[in-house]
Amino acid sequence: MLTWMDSLKGRSMMRLASFTDEEMLNLIDLAAQLKARRAAGVRGNLLHRKNVALIFEKSSTRTRNSTLVAIRDEGGNGEYLTRPDIHFGKKESVKDTARVLGRIYDGILFRGFRQQDCEDLAKYSGVPVWNGLTDDYHPTQIFADLLTVRETFGSLGDVTIAYVGDGRNNVANSLMMGCAKCGVRYVCCTPRELWPDEKVLAEAEEVAKRNGVDIRVFDDPVKGVKGANVLYTDVWVSMGEEDKTAARIRLLRPYQINMDLMRATGNIDGRLMFLHCLPAFHDNKTEVTKDCGALEVTDEVFESKYSKVFDESENRMHTIKALLVSALCDRKGI
Ligand code: CP
Ligand code: NVA
Repeated sequence: MLTWMDSLKGRSMMRLASFTDEEMLNLIDLAAQLKARRAAGVRGNLLHRKNVALIFEKSSTRTRNSTLVAIRDEGGNGEYLTRPDIHFGKKESVKDTARVLGRIYDGILFRGFRQQDCEDLAKYSGVPVWNGLTDDYHPTQIFADLLTVRETFGSLGDVTIAYVGDGRNNVANSLMMGCAKCGVRYVCCTPRELWPDEKVLAEAEEVAKRNGVDIRVFDDPVKGVKGANVLYTDVWVSMGEEDKTAARIRLLRPYQINMDLMRATGNIDGRLMFLHCLPAFHDNKTEVTKDCGALEVTDEVFESKYSKVFDESENRMHTIKALLVSALCDRKGI
């Protein structure tokens, strides 16, 4: 029987700090149940006649498709709205757009630049709003990451995740808080220039301490990954900061995840996996890497037995479904 916490009903998610630790673990559990249910062939009606607007200012493969299929699987309807499709922020303020869409839709998933826009959508629409990535946070991603770790290792107990790369981007910020909330040790390996923002770090440290785990930041990746069970990376240049590409590549070259770094964990024959939120620059098969080749991860690691990136990617759908169902479904115990 599917179960979720009553407190999740009608809830928005701006960032992971919006949820209690218990709610976060409960959502990961619900996603695992929904995944098993779908594998058993059940396409239900948990979101029957629910309409969700997807406002996307930035590109997306996983978040967009995971959300649309999650809604459709459960009998609802998703509408994909890009910036040129609507007046959002151009001819109409975010506040007015929120008030209009809130009268029409049951919920809104937002992917964009400004965290404040996401918060304003939630504040003025009166319906649940989920952050599908802003410049500051990428909370929906982390549910999928932690579900993948749980599936691969059997639990989230006694796990160290080492994130290697841009230590202050949206994924790193959310991963740090997600680990803290779920009692997972978090290590960030990043150059001084990209150390986590002090406030974001302090907030996560407080939660980690409460849950008996620590957060450590290293500028030496080889030292930092020692003892890690998960090596995690993301692109070196996030959407919206393309003008920084050349400098970032120079700065982050020593932080590429390769087999030597995997071995530096000391866990190459034990509990070890590689994760990446994707898309990943692991070969020369993209427009960006056709001349320079792999960036944040080598093809060898990406294609290795340690890599769980496509499980992680699939889990985006199950975890986003859990968020939508817990917030919008009118019934329980199905
Ligand atoms: N990981 C992730 O959010 O992927 P998309 O940009 O394809 O949605
Ligand atoms: N940090 C990346 C994540 C992409 C899913 C970006 O914002 O582009």
